[in-house]
Amino acid sequence: MDLKGKKVGIAVTGSFCTFDKIFKELKNLVNTGADVYTIFSGSSQRITSRFGEPEEFLREAEEITGKKPILTIEGAEPIGPKAYLDVLVIFPCTGNTAAKLANGITDTPVLMAAKAHLRNNKPLVISISTNDALGMNMKNIGLLLNSKNIYFIPFGQDNPEKKNNSLIAHTDKLIPTLELALEGKQIQPIIETF
Ligand SMILES: Cc1cc2nc3c(=O)[nH]c(=O)nc-3n(C[C@H](O)[C@H](O)[C@H](O)COP(=O)(O)O)c2cc1C
Repeated sequence: MDLKGKKVGIAVTGSFCTFDKIFKELKNLVNTGADVYTIFSGSSQRITSRFGEPEEFLREAEEITGKKPILTIEGAEPIGPKAYLDVLVIFPCTGNTAAKLANGITDTPVLMAAKAHLRNNKPLVISISTNDALGMNMKNIGLLLNSKNIYFIPFGQDNPEKKNNSLIAHTDKLIPTLELALEGKQIQPIIETF
């Protein structure tokens, strides 16, 4: 399904090393004609790291989308009753957020957005990015893979020798994953090597 005119939520969590790729894809997404809203987890809007300053990321998100990012749980809550998003992507999704989502915890703006959106029976897409994906978080990813209305951007092991349990999504597959998720389909193959 064409993304032109679709309302797409991009929910950002604290996998800072992927932010470069995330912002590149955010621009590509806006170029499709999608109407894009960003939501930031508390960590992603607070932590300064070697990958940059949170204020810069927030400014960049506003510049690209033309809208102020959603930064609070109360700001994300209307996604439920107003049902204004066609599709929501957790982009990138940390191990922390995947674990909480799989277990019904709603204590960040991103998790509030996910819960509110799922209540409307609309597609939620996960872009996994965590060092413990094949370890402590495998059970949570398994739960999410088997959950109604949840889809995954294809993922693979980014560094099997040095980071045995790490899985990262192929962020360049954002647009085709969304197009199919809007039709209720999971893009395949879901596991792709780097
Ligand atoms: C520099 C840096 C990079 C990080 N990268 C990742 C990552 O790629 N994946 C991940 O799951 N957590 C990563 N974390 C840890 C998360 O930011 C941390 O678990 C945080 O609580 C996530 O909160 P959130 O899921 O609400 O955004 C990183 C932390 C820092 C400081």
